[in-house]
Amino acid sequence: MNWTRKHVLGIEEMTTEEILITFEKAAEYLEGIEKKPGGILSDLKGYTAVNLFFEPSTRTRMSFELAQKRLGMEVINFSAGTSSLAKGETFIDTIQTIDAMNIDAIVMRHVQPGTPELATRYTDCPVLNGGDGSRAHPTQALLDLFTIWNRGIDFEGLKVAIVGDILHSRVARSEVLGLQKLGAEIILVGPPALIPGDLVSRGMEIEHDIDNIIEDIDILYLLRIQKERMAEAFIPNEEEYFKIYGINKDRLAKTKENCYLMHPGPVNRGVEIEAGLVNHPKSLILEQVRNGVAMRMALLSLCIKGS
Ligand code: NCD
Repeated sequence: MNWTRKHVLGIEEMTTEEILITFEKAAEYLEGIEKKPGGILSDLKGYTAVNLFFEPSTRTRMSFELAQKRLGMEVINFSAGTSSLAKGETFIDTIQTIDAMNIDAIVMRHVQPGTPELATRYTDCPVLNGGDGSRAHPTQALLDLFTIWNRGIDFEGLKVAIVGDILHSRVARSEVLGLQKLGAEIILVGPPALIPGDLVSRGMEIEHDIDNIIEDIDILYLLRIQKERMAEAFIPNEEEYFKIYGINKDRLAKTKENCYLMHPGPVNRGVEIEAGLVNHPKSLILEQVRNGVAMRMALLSLCIKGS
């Protein structure tokens, strides 16, 4: 099958075949960057990417920038605070201005759900969604799924517990869509106030007591409490949360021998995870970060060149 998709806006519109193509391509790049001096390839030499971040980001932004540089691309970084947006220029004007400069890809993050899709109407180049509000974070989901796939783990019947602030998590929404397409079973774990109704209706298991499921799962996917998206308190306090839902050594010791711990970052040590467990042998957290660059290289190449 050939890749015909121009944008990466969400997992919902991707077919299982397309998801598998991204895995194959990311695996190639993972190997490719290890072989080349400095990890620099020239697959997209002469092409230019603009990274438009209207919301803070550390790893997604760095990961995309690294991916672009490793493909030999020219990179322009744009932060909302230092642009004409501060002078009142609208989002659409900003996209049209960038488009007029003839660039080859836009990577964007925005607090408003749906803005990457809106951007596609005002530019001819591929748009890759680096996170829109609480709606979607497709490249994070793809790099997570790739991390599982690249370890030779079968998705069919794989039991994945997503634990924490699911309500505010764009990662969880994209993760769920991808996992379901690949045949995994999902259990959403967290306080009732942080499990969103839109996901409950998608036929997943819901659990409020992590100790009920800890021994049965294959992947323990943790999420941070997103205080910046909360207008009110959703949990009593962080110490209580850690006691009830946090992963400490004792809880991790109860998981199956080949159960893996994952987290999209940023990690809040002592809230959802005990300090020190990031580097535990069961943790794939840093592998996710490493694989993220290869996945983003794959998506840039596929969307810009179709291969
Ligand atoms: C996530 C995000 O920004 O949505 N982080 C990331 O991109 N790796 C998750 C979060 O902010 O908690």
